[in-house]
Amino acid sequence: MFPEKGSEEEEVLTELEERTREDLTFDSGKILGSMCTYPHPLAVKVVTKYIDRNLGDPGLHVGSQRVEIEAVDMLANLLGLARGYGHIVSGGTEANILAVRAFRNLSDAEKPELILPESAHFSFLKASEMLGVRLVWAELNDDYTVNVKDVESKITENTIGIVGIAGTTGLGVVDDIPALSDLALDYGLPLHVDAAFGGFVIPFAKALGYDIPDFDFRLKGVKSITIDPHKMGMVPIPAGGIIFRERRYLESISVLAPYLAGGKIWQATITGTRPGANALAVWAMIKHLGFEGYREIVRKAMKLSRWFAAELKKIPGVYLIREPVLNIVSFGTKNLEKAEEELKKRGWGISAHRGYIRIVMMPHVKREHLEEFLKDLREIVAGITP
Ligand SMILES: Cc1ncc(COP(=O)(O)O)c(C=O)c1O
Repeated sequence: MFPEKGSEEEEVLTELEERTREDLTFDSGKILGSMCTYPHPLAVKVVTKYIDRNLGDPGLHVGSQRVEIEAVDMLANLLGLARGYGHIVSGGTEANILAVRAFRNLSDAEKPELILPESAHFSFLKASEMLGVRLVWAELNDDYTVNVKDVESKITENTIGIVGIAGTTGLGVVDDIPALSDLALDYGLPLHVDAAFGGFVIPFAKALGYDIPDFDFRLKGVKSITIDPHKMGMVPIPAGGIIFRERRYLESISVLAPYLAGGKIWQATITGTRPGANALAVWAMIKHLGFEGYREIVRKAMKLSRWFAAELKKIPGVYLIREPVLNIVSFGTKNLEKAEEELKKRGWGISAHRGYIRIVMMPHVKREHLEEFLKDLREIVAGITP
């Protein structure tokens, strides 16, 4: 009910505190299955300070717009380009939708089709429905990367583009993007790389010596990349990123917004009014941590995931789905549903889908949390395994 009379600030805050008591919080160490984390204190400061900035009307907030452009360029740099064209958007979902929209708008296919791995994120289902693009699913190999031969066999005159994933949602697997890029170039098709999660991990993990395939704009077939600062970038939600190699992709999805207070602009994002503060926080975090800072965050996360995978292997009745590639470890157990239920009862923020439980070593996940989790898992599995 919409209240007739307002309440005191204190009263409202107290009620909110009570109402959100059952939420799991990142600092509790119980959230092990999320790709988000507690944002970096600097990013929180920036968002709070610039909370009123609206990049949907950039004529009013010209300085913020310049900062967003610079943030996009810094992300493009990280991904192997001197200059990129894109935006800080609401998340990986919007970024993927914008990429599909650009591919569709630049194609003259009568019945547009997009080829994507069976491991692709469900945001592409939304893109498909909204944009009238049929999804053509490509099979996976035994190691859960996309089967490039199957992708090739599915190319038709209606294909508008190909999707590869650098850090799959379930397993953190990186597709053979170099092979997909070659294929895309051979057939004159654009390749979109969904690095929503991997974008803030792979460049640093590679610098640390991990053997991970190339995945970015250094590969000529790659025309767009999704990279989310609100995942491993430690920026508050909402902060996704879409970067295009060339301006024409962005232009193909821009519509004229004629009535804004700051004057006419061309707008490419799905959202109209959108938070400038988060774009400023992306810029601030990159400036503050630099490559070295993020590399150290990734160093810890990767080390922890290798240790955790080794510990899981020691538990009878528990098995890894595959060796971890990034800082995601997924495992199965006998009677998985029961194990999931019991873990949740003990307060763990995890979920089992596609036949496994996924643990994401985000910056808030520490070894002591995982030790507690392993203790519970050992007990539970021993109890439910005959
Ligand atoms: C690979 C991948 N792409 C896209 C998304 C969607 O991102 P968001 O939830 O920020 O919209 C996710 C989310 O987990 C993801 O893992």
